[in-house]
Amino acid sequence: MKLSLRLILLLVASITIVTFIVSKGEVRSEKRGLRADLVRRAEVLSESLQEIVEPALEKGSRDQLRRIVERFSNREQLAGVIVYNKNGEVLAESSNLQRRFDPPPVPLDRVMASGAGLSEFLNLNSEPMHAYYIPLHDGNSATGVLAIFHDAGYIETQSARMWRASLWHVIAEVLLIVLISVLIIRWTIVLPISRTAQWMKDVRRGRMISAPPDSKESFLAPFTSEVMNLTRSLVDARSAAEEEARLRESGESVWTAERLRVSIKGKAQQGSLFVVSNREPYMHVHRGKSVDMLVPASGLVTALEPILRACDGIWIASGSGSADRETVDERDHIRVPPDKPEYTLRRVWLPKDVEQGYYYGFSNEGLWPLCHIAHTRPIFRASDWQSYQTANQEFANAVLQEMEGVERPLVLVQDYHFALLPRMIKEARPDARVAIFWHIPWPNPEAFGICPWQRELVSGLLGADLIGFQIQAHCDNFLETVDAALESQIEWERFAVKRGGHVTFVRPFPISVDFRESQRGLESQTSPYVLRAELLEKLGIKANFLGVGVDRVDYTKGLLERLRGVERFLEKWPEYRGKFTFVQIGAPSRTEIQRYHDFLQEVEREAESINARWQTAGWKPIALLTRHHGHEEILPYYRAADFCMVTSLHDGMNLVAKEFVAARDDEGGALILSQFTGAARELRDAIIVNPYDAEQLAEAIHVALEMNTEERQARMRLLRTNVKHHNVYGWAGNLITELSEIRIGELEPELGRSR
Ligand code: G6P
Repeated sequence: MKLSLRLILLLVASITIVTFIVSKGEVRSEKRGLRADLVRRAEVLSESLQEIVEPALEKGSRDQLRRIVERFSNREQLAGVIVYNKNGEVLAESSNLQRRFDPPPVPLDRVMASGAGLSEFLNLNSEPMHAYYIPLHDGNSATGVLAIFHDAGYIETQSARMWRASLWHVIAEVLLIVLISVLIIRWTIVLPISRTAQWMKDVRRGRMISAPPDSKESFLAPFTSEVMNLTRSLVDARSAAEEEARLRESGESVWTAERLRVSIKGKAQQGSLFVVSNREPYMHVHRGKSVDMLVPASGLVTALEPILRACDGIWIASGSGSADRETVDERDHIRVPPDKPEYTLRRVWLPKDVEQGYYYGFSNEGLWPLCHIAHTRPIFRASDWQSYQTANQEFANAVLQEMEGVERPLVLVQDYHFALLPRMIKEARPDARVAIFWHIPWPNPEAFGICPWQRELVSGLLGADLIGFQIQAHCDNFLETVDAALESQIEWERFAVKRGGHVTFVRPFPISVDFRESQRGLESQTSPYVLRAELLEKLGIKANFLGVGVDRVDYTKGLLERLRGVERFLEKWPEYRGKFTFVQIGAPSRTEIQRYHDFLQEVEREAESINARWQTAGWKPIALLTRHHGHEEILPYYRAADFCMVTSLHDGMNLVAKEFVAARDDEGGALILSQFTGAARELRDAIIVNPYDAEQLAEAIHVALEMNTEERQARMRLLRTNVKHHNVYGWAGNLITELSEIRIGELEPELGRSR
């Protein structure tokens, strides 16, 4: 893109006009100054002459008068001096006068009557002159007038000279300003815009690049961000349409965001869907003087957003960002997503002590280790239980308030933070359909039974119409726990619990990832070998083989076991020393809890001690990256690795395993997967391991690295087919379909008999 001639001419014309006006003003004020100076000089001269002329006039001595005027006549620019009597006759005049001023150019009566000096610029026969008249007195009566004439031509000459000088100035200034403006416009506007246009062209041609160039240029940022949103929407729409067409063509029935949206529209009315979770989908935080919007790393947003958008629902979550309060309205609402608002986020504010007891205490020091068999003892404090009840009630109040006036609402509660919520909602709104999805495992009844409040928790959950778990085994464990903890009727043949006339269905809904979205941001032609070299170089490591792990630093993830597996592998196969590196991306998590804080240090110590055994100047066996990494940072590692290792000691599902599979559109890479994850039930073509067995982990690493390409591709192809067909939209679609098909109220006993 070039700057058009019209724009340049426009610039030249406007700058010329401005500079011209400024110069004109300058010449005018210079002229005014010269005139004022001339008047002042005439005044001074007239006053000194007056003092000596008046006595001579009194004496009536014309000779003396002539001598006096002659003496003064050689002053600069002085055209002449004349003494008039009161009748206007010339008594004396200087010899330098070029012309006669008889009669005087102004009526002398006026001068004598005014009693003061009179100044006047005249044009006599095109000659500019200045005349100054002052009355002459004899005692109190006026006896004549002294007139002083100056040649004012030099003022015009000087002004004309100034004009000429200004003209050159104007030309030089205009050229300089135009040149600078053109350069500035080119660098700051034209080039960024043409680069953005090129980016849009590339995107249109199918070459997706993560962000347009210059997206951070401060003053163009709003423009590029809008362009980015628009382009993304177009790309999304285009790929959704392509995907739909392809699926129709191949007769496949894969869930997509679009299909989910259409499906929900038929099941939930506008404004009738309510989602509750502890983590909010959008968080606002202070960054210096500005407010930034963050999307907390969680697969939940991907899964639930299409449903909420389809029916303009409300997401109720804990407001935990430092600027969250400033960004909501008086009802604690904010419309999201910020770029294209389609549903409402309602923020709930919990007092610090309640949050401490409910989130850190009961949820994460109590329920989390209770449900994960990872040999960390749960801690149950009565005060935490109190906070847990208070927080659940706070959320229930918020949900009930939002549901006021909404007929037959659908409520989707998320996770172990809200076991009491379903009953609280259902008691106040029996007409609501309530489901809760338990993202983490449910242990066997003996393990769960150590919780002092197991009855209250189970009873709270049974308030729901539908309880979802990741896998069938967790459903079984839950029903057995109900059986052991409460008086109720368990219907194993249809997986339901009947209690006090209410039926709760219990079903597995294995959560997943957005298969297509997980590949986004990488041009698929980038070879894993090139990526690997780039990534390792950034870490200052030289190696040929790369393994990767991605986790929150949590004691359930089997991180120590994993590192020991790597150590054992290098002990058994020393030929890989100096050639193989394992990169562990570990996002610090819940570090306010002592156990998590200590665990992070344990992991760091373990990595250090293994590295100390074998590391050399350019190589080390383990690279531990303990900070939060965004999806776009993790993706290259997935794509570059020979294998990804998931060694959870216990895990509801584990989405890292599925993300890794979705990212490998080159059908490369092997997955090593713990048998104690929900994902291991679906991803049977992974290398399944027992993470407690270091020998097995070492073997698995060896198998993954030495596996032939054919075998590796065959396995990855099967894994990918699985994740593609059981994606996150299917999870959400099945959950909501099941919930909306449940008949509630008076029909319930009927439903029990007829099914
Ligand atoms: C688990 C839970 C989620 C939770 C996530 C992150 O996967 O099931 O509900 O969001 O951990 O934990 P955090 O405590 O940071 O939300």
